[in-house]
Amino acid sequence: MTDQPEPAPYPDALKAELLEIALDAAARAGAFLRDGRPEDLGVAATKSSAVDVVTEMDIASEKMITGLLADRRPDDGVLGEEGASVEGSSGVQWVIDPIDGTVNYLYGLPSWAVSIAARVHGETVVGVVYAPVRGETWRAVLGDGAFLNDRPLHVRPAPALGLALVGTGFGYLAERRARQAEVVRELIPQVRDIRRGGSAAIDLCDVATGRLDAYYERGLNPWDYAAGDLIAREAGALTGGRPGERLSPDLTVAAPSGLFELLQGRLEELGAWHD
Ligand code: IPD
Ligand code: CA
Repeated sequence: MTDQPEPAPYPDALKAELLEIALDAAARAGAFLRDGRPEDLGVAATKSSAVDVVTEMDIASEKMITGLLADRRPDDGVLGEEGASVEGSSGVQWVIDPIDGTVNYLYGLPSWAVSIAARVHGETVVGVVYAPVRGETWRAVLGDGAFLNDRPLHVRPAPALGLALVGTGFGYLAERRARQAEVVRELIPQVRDIRRGGSAAIDLCDVATGRLDAYYERGLNPWDYAAGDLIAREAGALTGGRPGERLSPDLTVAAPSGLFELLQGRLEELGAWHD
């Protein structure tokens, strides 16, 4: 009997189809958001607090994406930030943030993105993050690398913690932010500097692109990190939560090996995973 190679876990045709759909949906929603942003854009609703806003455009973008998915792959599940929730029967689940960086979008700042991930039986196999005003599309397919537009990506070599440029973000609840500020107060003298970009999806892609050495945040939801996590990992980053754990709403950390362990350890000491 001859040794058979391990079967590929996901057929190439499925990965290619999911990538093509994710790119198409992100391109359409992104162009709609960029070109259709009203001058007098207002807040349609608030969620966890008065500063956790939803605009009419978040809702319209999510509808546009879920409509396209329902046409192209009617048996798939969907989880979206603005409430889309479909169980599905195919084993594929789409995880959607129709605008990540809603506050940037509201204020006319350029760093916001449409984030779309496809999971197969719970594992993310495709991630697309499209930042229309920046003209940047990040994409990754599990095992096939990460790209910015058509440029293959690789993280920066790990610097010492003291030389690391570290991105982070803050939640919408006042008590959580107060705690997050305490963590930053401890961390900032120990790193090169801190950045707060306003879109977790772009922050993860910035690690993939070598524009940040590392990124961490407490309190993200799957739609914030699903696509960016795969893009960062496919560019060579390690991602996780507390030591030994996968990334989760408790904590998300991304950095190249060598820096990842130091930052994750420091965040554990600082209790960055709790309010
Ligand atoms: C937020 C952004 C922000 C992060 C928040 C997220 P939204 O998502 O990713 O950078 O700090 O934790 O909730 O509300 O703009 O979709
Ligand atoms: Ca988000």
